[in-house]
Amino acid sequence: MTDQVLEAFDRFLADRPGVRQRLGQPGWALPDPREFQVKPLGNGNALLWRGRSNVLDIVLPGGARDNIILCDAIELGRASLTLNGGGNLVVLCASTKFQAKITIQGDGHLLYWGEGATCNEGTVVMGAGHRGTTVMFGADCMLSQRVTVRAADSHGILDVGTREVTNVPGSIVVGPHVWLGNGSTVLKDVEIGPGSIVGAGAIVTADIPALSTCVGVPARVVRQNTTWTRKSSPTEEQKDQVFRLLAQVGAAVPAPVG
Ligand SMILES: CC(C)(COP(=O)(O)OP(=O)(O)OC[C@H]1O[C@@H](n2cnc3c(N)ncnc32)[C@H](O)[C@@H]1OP(=O)(O)O)[C@@H](O)C(=O)NCCC(=O)NCCS
Repeated sequence: MTDQVLEAFDRFLADRPGVRQRLGQPGWALPDPREFQVKPLGNGNALLWRGRSNVLDIVLPGGARDNIILCDAIELGRASLTLNGGGNLVVLCASTKFQAKITIQGDGHLLYWGEGATCNEGTVVMGAGHRGTTVMFGADCMLSQRVTVRAADSHGILDVGTREVTNVPGSIVVGPHVWLGNGSTVLKDVEIGPGSIVGAGAIVTADIPALSTCVGVPARVVRQNTTWTRKSSPTEEQKDQVFRLLAQVGAAVPAPVG
């Protein structure tokens, strides 16, 4: 089974050149699946793991087939992952804390969780019957409590004149080193640039540029040239670490004063 899973992993990414191009770049590490242990989960579903194998409560309803879940070492936390469809790929890079409830409905979706990104309490919803969306969190993102990232509305909105569904699911990219504050929500078809901050209770419905602070409903940028650190009173070295990462991912960081 191992060869089949590895082939399917490579094929999944080869079929998505846009995503493949991003992965492996700074801030978007791609672990080598060949270094992981493979655990068959039935119906072609497989878990590739290293570290603790019991971090994820994986729920695979009857129709779930050929899903691949790669889970690197996660130090703390427990997450639930429901995959209601086929041929989805979940990549969870190594992290110190990951506590989330993830639901993926439909086929061919990608969920990517970047290296060192942390989540205190998050809900991620993807798919809802559609094919091939992506939700990606870059390295060192920080999700606070009660954060919702929703790439699908889960129910259709109809145009009364045309009878068409108007709210198809979309993709979400949360760039490296983005902080999603307490109770914030990110909706479909949104990209948040590296280093940015989403304030408590904000609802993000449109793209947010890099190094911006946005707040409110819908979220609006209230400050530019801002970023954040995990420490309230960071040392110069801790600030340097942040600026190094932002420079690596191409976010323009202003030169230090003086
Ligand atoms: C977004 C945030 C980090 C910005 O902090 P800050 O840079 O000190 O911002 P300020 O307090 O100076 O506020 C700037 C403006 O945005 C408004 N604002 C700030 N946070 C807001 C929020 N969450 N929702 C709505 N408006 C907000 C302020 O009223 C102010 O508006 P004004 O200029 O019209 O007076 C902060 O307000 C916030 O939301 N903190 C919560 C962080 C959190 O979730 N922590 C959990 C631990 S992970």
